[in-house]
Amino acid sequence: MQIFHARLNAVEDSTGCVVCQPEQLYIRQLALKLASQFNNKSCQLATPNCNITFPPPTRMSRPAGVGIIAIEAYFPSQFVDQTELEQFDGVSAGKYTVGLGQARMGFCTDREDVNSLCLTAVQRLMERNSIGVEQIGRLEVGTETILDKSKSVKTVLMQLFGDNTDIEGIDTTNACYGGTAALFNALSWVESSAWDGRLAIVVAADIAVYATGSARPTGGAGAMAMLVGPNAPLVIESGLRASYMKHAYDFYKPDLNSEYPVVDGKLSIQCYLSALDHCYQLYCKKAHKANPESKVQLNTFDAFLFHSPYCKLVQKSLARLLLNDYFLASDEEKSKFPEAFNSIKNVKMEETYFDRDVERLVLDNSKQLFEEKTKPSLFLANQIGNMYTPSLYGGLVSLLISREASQLTGNRVALFSYGSGLASSMYSLKISTDLAPVQKLVDSLNHVKPTLEARRKIAPEDFAATLDAKEKNHHKVPYVPEGSVETLFPGTWYLVDVDDKYRRSYKRKPL
Ligand code: ACO
Repeated sequence: MQIFHARLNAVEDSTGCVVCQPEQLYIRQLALKLASQFNNKSCQLATPNCNITFPPPTRMSRPAGVGIIAIEAYFPSQFVDQTELEQFDGVSAGKYTVGLGQARMGFCTDREDVNSLCLTAVQRLMERNSIGVEQIGRLEVGTETILDKSKSVKTVLMQLFGDNTDIEGIDTTNACYGGTAALFNALSWVESSAWDGRLAIVVAADIAVYATGSARPTGGAGAMAMLVGPNAPLVIESGLRASYMKHAYDFYKPDLNSEYPVVDGKLSIQCYLSALDHCYQLYCKKAHKANPESKVQLNTFDAFLFHSPYCKLVQKSLARLLLNDYFLASDEEKSKFPEAFNSIKNVKMEETYFDRDVERLVLDNSKQLFEEKTKPSLFLANQIGNMYTPSLYGGLVSLLISREASQLTGNRVALFSYGSGLASSMYSLKISTDLAPVQKLVDSLNHVKPTLEARRKIAPEDFAATLDAKEKNHHKVPYVPEGSVETLFPGTWYLVDVDDKYRRSYKRKPL
């Protein structure tokens, strides 16, 4: 109650009455609460001469259709071929391409870092969608590629916004989950009393590199920038989210002098699948609570998108949801599953992460579901690799460029975000039934496929040498990068140098 008094004092007039300006919506809520509890106060809502003034009711209602208005996908201009990498690494043919499901892996030279990736993606997003700097009121960054323990990437991006210095938001970090946390922050802002009518930008960017060994083929790099606001073609479904957060050492980066993480590969897979089980089951439970008539199942969604460390794990994840559907089914519903499912009636979910028989059964029975609902979203993951925070949003871009806009309208899409350590969430979005804005969004992504094809293929030995040099020069100052500027895509921001005080300067290659 003291808090109410403290805040209200700021707007009480000389007679002790509360004056609410339209902008002071939070004060209005407090005033209403206070007035209802202290109805003997001289200034009461019912008193005719009371000068409490309220904004029109519409100012209090949440903006409609909050979600993603536009997306920009950026990835580096070179890649290594996974078949060639198999030969170079001396592993059996097919291990990376079939076993992990990866075709190509994008990587950066020393000309690009997380700041430049974000600069490029954010500027291209604004250019492609004709967004003026003054239209942005919030900018959120999700990344786990840390260059500085204090100065955020967001502050570097402020170079793009000219005189508009009134932009909230900073960086969010937890492995591959930071992009989703940043998106949730932006959505919350637009739906909050702090929103001032402007748009938000969320950018997720990472450079995913591993030391030599089994994890190296699961690297990648890229950035996805999203414009967030009301009346969006991709509306995030409100009031329906499930999260699972836990302490685990499956993948982490304790050595700040190295770009490489410490990875327990098998544990990371178990953590990922366990998080998926928890999020899906909780999402189903919450959906049922909100609407007891409905039951969420795989078939509820037209598409199911996942954070993609490598495509094979995503296929197994979709299959895992079928296993969940079976365990969540009533006896009558269970009888409609193929007879072979009877063999797993009594197994415990948490004992099945590496059970080959269970995995085969659900993989075999979810092939069609995978082709329809998930495979289209793996296009960028297959071609670029794990981009970490942008991975899930690369899945969204892949879905959007996989079919005609008219086939996307009205679709309901589920998204699973996972970041080691661990943080995970499942949420869903609805694609507008209005064709025009969906068409506009899809058209704005027309460049993605040709740009992917325009990348240069680099020999595995040169890829390995690039990574070795980057690891050797990581945090070295003063430093002038050696990577070519010529080979960057037009419009790419790049690192010019790092001075002896670790200050980085950037330039942009002309469009
Ligand atoms: N042809 C076809 N398939 C093959 C071949 C071949 N010649 N050789 C191996 N395979 C299959 C294996 O059977 C295996 O299949 P399975 O997953 O169905 O069992 C798959 O290829 C991978 O082979 P493994 O021997 O299991 O691979 P390894 O243990 O060497 O490494 C791992 C895989 C653990 C994923 C490693 O790449 C890694 O640590 N990556 C980073 C961690 C990661 O991505 N974790 C996921 C979640 S956390 C995150 O997003 C960072």
